[in-house]
Amino acid sequence: MTSSGHVIILAVLAALNVCNCANVLMITMGGTKSHKIPFWELARGLIPRGHNITFINAFPQDFITDGLEEITPAGLVFYVKNFTNWDLLGARMRGEEPVHPLDMMRYPYEACDILYSDGEMKDFLHSGQTFDLIIMDGAFPECALGLVYYFKIPFMYINTVGFYTGSLSVAGNPTPYSITPFLARPFTDNMNLLERTVNSFWHICANLMHSVMVKVFLHNVLKKHFGKDIPHSYELSKNVSFILQNGYTTVTYARPYLPNVAEIACIHCKDPKPLPPNFEEFIRGSGENGFIYFSMGSSVKAANMPEYLRRMLLCVFKQLPQRVLWKWEADDMPDLPPNVKLSRWLPQQDLLGHPKIRAFVTHGGLLSMFETVYHGVPIVTIPVFCDHDSNAAKAQLDGYAIQLDLATLTADSLLRAIRGVIHNPKYKSDVKRMQRLLKDQKETPLERAIYWTEYVLRHKGAEHLLSPSRNLNVIEYYLIDVMFVFLILAIALQYILRLLIKIIYKYLSSSVGFSIVRKNIKVE
Ligand SMILES: *[C@@H]1O[C@H](CO)[C@@H](O)[C@H](O)[C@H]1NC(C)=O
Ligand SMILES: *[C@@H]1O[C@H](CO)[C@@H](O)[C@H](O)[C@H]1NC(C)=O
Ligand SMILES: *[C@@H]1O[C@H](CO)[C@@H](O)[C@H](O)[C@H]1NC(C)=O
Repeated sequence: MTSSGHVIILAVLAALNVCNCANVLMITMGGTKSHKIPFWELARGLIPRGHNITFINAFPQDFITDGLEEITPAGLVFYVKNFTNWDLLGARMRGEEPVHPLDMMRYPYEACDILYSDGEMKDFLHSGQTFDLIIMDGAFPECALGLVYYFKIPFMYINTVGFYTGSLSVAGNPTPYSITPFLARPFTDNMNLLERTVNSFWHICANLMHSVMVKVFLHNVLKKHFGKDIPHSYELSKNVSFILQNGYTTVTYARPYLPNVAEIACIHCKDPKPLPPNFEEFIRGSGENGFIYFSMGSSVKAANMPEYLRRMLLCVFKQLPQRVLWKWEADDMPDLPPNVKLSRWLPQQDLLGHPKIRAFVTHGGLLSMFETVYHGVPIVTIPVFCDHDSNAAKAQLDGYAIQLDLATLTADSLLRAIRGVIHNPKYKSDVKRMQRLLKDQKETPLERAIYWTEYVLRHKGAEHLLSPSRNLNVIEYYLIDVMFVFLILAIALQYILRLLIKIIYKYLSSSVGFSIVRKNIKVE
């Protein structure tokens, strides 16, 4: 090829490769670290394409990444740490709500006030930095919506909590309670009359509580920091350009979505890497028996668990021929059996993808559920709080999980469940089936998320994708007003018909022929 040919090709390539580079602001108000992960993965996909990311959250970063600046205001970090220093396991075992509904309600506006009062956040807002797009967490987006008003730029959600329906429904997406399980109840998408009643009750209660929280408390916080003209969060949220939904038909049910929603479950899933030598050596110690991985995730502070639960777990693990790797964030235990190894941090996906894994005992966090399907590992779930119950119900429905209840958990039931998922081939084959379905997609979830993010950047929003349904209230959306019109019409029609019959009757009875008929009848 001639050198002029080269030049032309290079010029064409350069023209095609016009950098659509943007400055993207990400923010999650989530109180657990799992909220960070989908943002992190999307950021790591966007940075190599020339975008710069600024990410506000409550969990100081573990890694430095070029192109990603994390802002973790100290006040917010402290507040979240103190708020989540809970004993969820103990509460659940006692049959209490692990997080009191009033605490759930105060978290969003208290955290919001702390965020915007923080010096670091104030400096950031007054730094004059500009952005092209905000990507915020659709689970509790109310506070972050203040930034949309401040920067006046398009915004998207990542709905980190797949079963959380609050923000989705505000954006006009249909969430029929008949087929949408409430995140904190163990329902599936197939409910009988009683379940649908209870499910609807929870949805309605949660929406009412949310609306009180936003209208009475959170709006005042936003007014305090952004001025009294700021629209209500509900108004601001209607303009969300696009929603990246942390779900997928095979892992969170088939749901009716509008064109401005894309499902990105498993955006963070990765093929396994070799384990660090100390773990590999430990696992190899059990030969063909393999190992079991036990983790309650990052939100449940396992080390805060009641002593009697800890002893019960040790008693169960001791009886297993498998080795057990246990994620435990506190000091060593003196009574640890030789087949159990503790670690503050474990490379979860590398363990789940290890050929020697036999079962995963999990709290049922959403990301853990996606990973277990991605890597094809049967599970025993012990749901604790938030969306764990709905996640566990889905896993059980799909056949690869045995679900246990903390309130009734015994050493015997746990041992039987672990042996069950290991020795009954049904669990393994069901999880493999779900794995095939999850992986059979035309592009990876990350590619999909990048495409739609750049789409919103290219078009400076996506108003054409939005449904006018977001502007309708319940009465308009469900045509309750129209039914009322029909009802009035029906009543009016009935009235007119009656009047007509009366008139005809009167007319006929005054005519002679009809009188004769009546006389005849009387005679009989
Ligand atoms: C991203 O940051 C780098 C380094 O600060 C800068 O050179 C580049 O221009 C930025 N990109 C955009 C799109 O602003
Ligand atoms: C920490 O949390 C506890 C319990 O929720 C609360 O009573 C206390 O006021 C919090 N402390 C601070 C400094 O926020
Ligand atoms: C939403 O977008 C529309 C059209 O761009 C705009 O007129 C409206 O003011 C926006 N609403 C809010 C609350 O920002």
